[in-house]
Amino acid sequence: TKNMNIGLLGFGTVGTGVLQIIQNHQDKLKHQLGCSVTVKKILVSNLHKQRSVDVNQEQLTTSAENILNDDEIDVIVEVMGGIDEARRYIRHALENGKHVITANKDLMALHGSELLQLANKQGCDLFYEASVAGGIPILRTLVEGLASDRITKMMGIVNGTTNYILTKMSKEGRVYNEVLKEAQALGYAEADPTSDVEGLDAARKIAILGTLGFSMNLDLDDVSVKGISAITSEDLSYGDQLGYTMKLVGIANRSGDKVEVSVQPTLVPHDHPLSSVDDEFNAVYVYGEAVGETMYYGAGAGQLPTATAVVSDLVEVLKNKRLGVNGNSVVIPQFDKKLKTDDD
Ligand code: NDP
Ligand code: HSE
Repeated sequence: TKNMNIGLLGFGTVGTGVLQIIQNHQDKLKHQLGCSVTVKKILVSNLHKQRSVDVNQEQLTTSAENILNDDEIDVIVEVMGGIDEARRYIRHALENGKHVITANKDLMALHGSELLQLANKQGCDLFYEASVAGGIPILRTLVEGLASDRITKMMGIVNGTTNYILTKMSKEGRVYNEVLKEAQALGYAEADPTSDVEGLDAARKIAILGTLGFSMNLDLDDVSVKGISAITSEDLSYGDQLGYTMKLVGIANRSGDKVEVSVQPTLVPHDHPLSSVDDEFNAVYVYGEAVGETMYYGAGAGQLPTATAVVSDLVEVLKNKRLGVNGNSVVIPQFDKKLKTDDD
């Protein structure tokens, strides 16, 4: 093949970054893959919106079928967000034998097992590295880098928007609503930022980390969640005076076959590494029985860091295609393993 065609579903913060990276890294992609990569069609909801990058108007469409049924398109990149439509489009793409990449943690936390099983059945890849911790390659680290270990604890700051808000409130004395608006303008927040500030976005990410890290089906309902919307500047400055920084921390712990998963505002001692993770940055601590403590740090939200994770998934899909091993790389956790919580 001389060229691979991509169909992009969504052309907002992440989608625009994906197009930019594909355009700017053409030489590197050609070198790595032995072919050029073209974004053939892009799904948007508004054809007339002003775009921040140069795009051929003919590439844009409001018809998903136009993309999903295009036989010349090899890979679908879903970066539109939402659950029901995205799920339908991804199923459609997989049923048509197309590989799929998504940044959609809402969808993967709720319907990941169903979609991964469909991908496996169809011999397609379904990758979702960008769904957790933006530019940090944490999913691949869990399923490849630490594949031989037994992970018993994961802990981290996995929402960029709330970390940005808490940082600006505590370090610059800024006001919650104003900083939230700034995080939205910078492209960190979800379309409806309630899921960020109420901790649900972090809960979805921790559920995905737990599912992959512990190889068990972690249900979103099993995650206890508390967000930051009730945190005041006074809470932050009292904490600071006592030697603590307030962070929204997700924790997944397992002991034997019992698992506890939670997301909550947490007072982190100033000398703890998580205390200095500021702004939109994320950090994930992973403890494995053999490897011991490991920690991963980087931009957890934003256009180019997130798009990097998406395009790296694309490189993986296309490498697999060259080797003829698509579908083998899909990780299906042991879904029959039963989660036990405190209520059991
Ligand atoms: P945006 O809101 O910036 O972009 C969404 C895009 O999808 C827009 O181009 C929009 O079209 C299009 N779109 C949305 N719904 C439809 C629809 N029903 N039909 C056609 N087009 C539609 O979102 P982001 O780029 O920020 O996020 C995209 C995904 O990536 C989400 O799942 C998000 O959770 C995830 N993500 C985001 C990160 C970030 O830092 N922003 C980081 C990691 C993951 P139009 O342009 O015409 O409005
Ligand atoms: N809204 C998310 C965040 C985007 O702020 O972390 C990255 O997943």
